Amino acid sequence: MKNYNIPRSMEWIGGIDGHLRLLDQTLLPIETTYIDCKEIGSVHEAIRSLRVRGAPAIGITAALGILVGLKKIPPGTTLNSHYETIDNYLRTSRPTAVNLFWALDRMKRKFLEVKNHDDHHGILSILLKEALSIEKEDREMCQNIGRIGSTLVQEGFGILTHCNTGGLATAAYGTALSVIFTAFEQRKSIHVYCDETRPLLQGARLTSWELLQAGIPSTLICDSMAAQVMKEGKINMVVVGADRIAANGDTANKIGTYGLSVLAHAHNIPFYVAAPSSTFDLTLKDGSEIPIEQRSHIEITAPFGKQVAPDGVTVYNPAFDVAPARLITGIITEKALITPVNEKNILDSI
Ligand code: MRU
Repeated sequence: MKNYNIPRSMEWIGGIDGHLRLLDQTLLPIETTYIDCKEIGSVHEAIRSLRVRGAPAIGITAALGILVGLKKIPPGTTLNSHYETIDNYLRTSRPTAVNLFWALDRMKRKFLEVKNHDDHHGILSILLKEALSIEKEDREMCQNIGRIGSTLVQEGFGILTHCNTGGLATAAYGTALSVIFTAFEQRKSIHVYCDETRPLLQGARLTSWELLQAGIPSTLICDSMAAQVMKEGKINMVVVGADRIAANGDTANKIGTYGLSVLAHAHNIPFYVAAPSSTFDLTLKDGSEIPIEQRSHIEITAPFGKQVAPDGVTVYNPAFDVAPARLITGIITEKALITPVNEKNILDSI
């Protein structure tokens, strides 16, 4: 699969003494600027501020963040207790994308497995290898999601997507966008409608940019235009990503996704979620248990540094919502298309 000149969201520079380089996605598409994270605070800040964002990318960054955190062990602290501290700290960066916790759990399992069997240098080498495996596996999962999901795309399809689920949100290629990239590479003539995705405009700033880089015909719309575009018959399928999928298939994704699932249902349009198995949280019975991140009112009152609402106005800013399983036609994973979406089919497929 082609890379379409999408810069890497994260990259480990050097060996165990190296550091984490992140693309600052808050500056895209105007500026391509990288941040070199050499201490754990800058990794936490980058995740918290959405300099790196998208569920799989957050997970990979957290895994590599552990290596950044282990660079300096404060005097008088054991490796064990310092590991606990940085692991707990990274877990507070963002609450909704389960990939963050999935990746940190995997790193911790590896740490517990090797901590008594190796010297400090050996432990770091094994942990770096584990984090880089998470990144490599994500790239492979994304390719497979594209392969499986592209079978759902027919010639001439209009496809609506929301937020950013491309190479920027993952190790490479993306999830929902991988479906679109793959269908395009198969020479299917498609047209993508891309929601701008208020309030932080991941659709306008990131997805429309990735689609342009790939040369895929696309049209940017305001979120509030989705119903009209569906009514005009321009949309044949909706495909979105996910931040956490509960055991019954209820799916948390960027705010606005729930509304799209309702609209798709009302217009008889299939609604697909594309996500790797690291995005499932089978410990949660349904979507009501998914923690939803609440973000600053400033993202709505003064987005991108420009005040657009009066001082003192009350604001509600949940970053995610939950599309119910009954409105999801299918979930595309790296292994299978899960349809109909229910607990049994999910358990059988992941
Ligand atoms: O707040 P963000 O930009 O991290 O939200 C991202 C999304 O909601 C994506 O749709 C989701 O993480 C899937 S990314 C492959």
